[in-house]
Amino acid sequence: MNYDPIKYKTPTGNTISCKGWIQEAALRMLLNNLDPAVAERPEDLIVYGGRGKAARNIEALDNIIKALKVLENDESLLIQSGKPVGILKTHKDAPRVLISNSQLVPNWANWKHFDELEKKGLMMYGQMTAGSWIYIGSQGIVQGTYETYGAVADKHFPKPIEPSESNSLLTTHNSLSKTHGSLRHTLNVTAGLGGMGGAQPLAITMNEGVALIAEVEEWRIDKRLETKYLDLKITDIDQAIDRALEAKKNGEVISIGVLCNAVHLLQRLLERNVIPDTLTDQTSAHDPLIGYWPHEISYEEAKILRTKNPDEYIDYAYRSMYLHVQLMIQLMDRGAITFDYGNNIRARAREYEEKIESGKSKIENEGNSQLNDLPVFPANRCFSFPGFVPAYIRPLFCEGKGPFRWAALSGDPNDIAVTDELIMNMFPENKGMIRWMKMAKEKIAFQGLPARICWLGQGEREKAGLAFNELVRTGKVKAPIVIGRDHLDTGSVASPNRETEAMLDGSDAVADWPILNALVNTAGGASWVSLHHGGGVGMGYSIHAGMVIVADGTDDAEARLRRVLRNDPGMGVIRHADAGYDIAKDTARAHNLDIADRLKDS
Ligand SMILES: NC(=O)c1ccc[n+]([C@@H]2O[C@H](COP(=O)([O-])OP(=O)(O)OC[C@H]3O[C@@H](n4cnc5c(N)ncnc54)[C@H](O)[C@@H]3O)[C@@H](O)[C@H]2O)c1
Repeated sequence: MNYDPIKYKTPTGNTISCKGWIQEAALRMLLNNLDPAVAERPEDLIVYGGRGKAARNIEALDNIIKALKVLENDESLLIQSGKPVGILKTHKDAPRVLISNSQLVPNWANWKHFDELEKKGLMMYGQMTAGSWIYIGSQGIVQGTYETYGAVADKHFPKPIEPSESNSLLTTHNSLSKTHGSLRHTLNVTAGLGGMGGAQPLAITMNEGVALIAEVEEWRIDKRLETKYLDLKITDIDQAIDRALEAKKNGEVISIGVLCNAVHLLQRLLERNVIPDTLTDQTSAHDPLIGYWPHEISYEEAKILRTKNPDEYIDYAYRSMYLHVQLMIQLMDRGAITFDYGNNIRARAREYEEKIESGKSKIENEGNSQLNDLPVFPANRCFSFPGFVPAYIRPLFCEGKGPFRWAALSGDPNDIAVTDELIMNMFPENKGMIRWMKMAKEKIAFQGLPARICWLGQGEREKAGLAFNELVRTGKVKAPIVIGRDHLDTGSVASPNRETEAMLDGSDAVADWPILNALVNTAGGASWVSLHHGGGVGMGYSIHAGMVIVADGTDDAEARLRRVLRNDPGMGVIRHADAGYDIAKDTARAHNLDIADRLKDS
């Protein structure tokens, strides 16, 4: 049995085959995740992020579909790592689907154990929005990446604000900063053009810069060219560097995908002493086996080795990731603004360093003739560049801001146009968001169900959700709207090398917060709630929760939206206030979320 794009085509329109719109929404979003226009490798049920899957296998997918169709409006379907395992009695306001993906008891929480379980068919890797059925293609991450590069521009390449501009859309990139920066005349180097990484070229050009991106797989480059996220493919490294330098000099805005390993691109940049203005990476380094291509063997050899001898493949990948990070550090030392973009590559490099220190690297010890010695680098520097969250994003999290997203279940792009207008009219003061929405309308091709994303904060998400419900109630859109978010959000993730890196109070690894987030969204009546392990950074490194809520135009939906879209970002505000961030404390007070205020008269 294989994935069949016709059989699994996402239904659209307003006739439903389930017993309620919430079940129908879960069905459509599950199938939408796997739509070939959305998923990276639908034939393997892989949506994005290395091996992030929507269902464990085809049989499980078929059974989830059947289960959603028989599910009553007072029942909940239980999904255990991509497989439906039970339908239990709950009540009309409970989530229709409860999902737990890739959870392992901490002492066993590593890729090795996960791989054994996966081989036995007992588990799947849910990544973040793959296993929680709210992935909307690369657009989902374009906004986050646009915000990040915008913040980089604001911080490092600010432009003075002309008096005439002070009230225009150009005054801020995002709500993080009061200056307007631009990446024009800058060279921005990175790697990986996968599901998430594919957003990088567009996010960089939207910030007016030059993007130079290494990618090993040619089909990935072609896919980004087709969807217009990328402008140009060049197969020769030197030609790609020359073209990028010419564009930088002329102030041209262009993105270039170069068909090569990231390590080879960085080596060549160093040899030629070409120092990027910014430098990061979005290869799937979180998953050394399925996500990262080593540089010492060819692509074809690597594909064979991956299945023939996974342990040896992993050794090769670790050597490459170590070198990759060391080259990034060398470029940083020569002036490149360098940051980790959430793939845990710094930890992989450090793990390799530890293996070498303890003499446990197998391929090195076996005297492998194919290996050249790696240069010797100063020890213990793998974490010497920061992650993107502490460097650029945390102040947004403190205001409850994060990647709010929605999709039109009708399948009609006009429904998204209606919501776009509504959002822009509703928050006229949020200039950065409006600037983004205008560009998104113009430059972003929908993949699968029409969808939109923009970062909204405490108070804003609730207001938007209730307004969407009114659009459905009054027939201004043709079918219900699904509202969700990434797990990379303000209050839904514990990930010490990413979202919770360098917390003010040292609480980076405290995972009570995402668990409370899943519990409160369940209690509040989200439509489906998920709790995952290992997303973004791999096994053992993160715990995170997802939620999706359907605006179907009913009074019940209104009450649920009011609770869930207040509580969900509210968890982030509370979490950051508890860690001591002043912005979060102010936001908590302003939105009646401060527990001390509640307790002061008691
Ligand atoms: N920063 C964020 O907001 C964020 C969000 C989600 C995921 N991520 C992380 O970003 C990473 C990428 O996610 P994705 O969905 O794009 O993954 P993906 O698996 O779809 O794509 C990864 C890409 O990297 C390429 N690649 C691997 N090794 C390479 C190398 N050495 N040189 C050049 N190219 C190489 C692969 O060919 C592939 O195209 C993952 O680790 C993911 O967890 C970051």
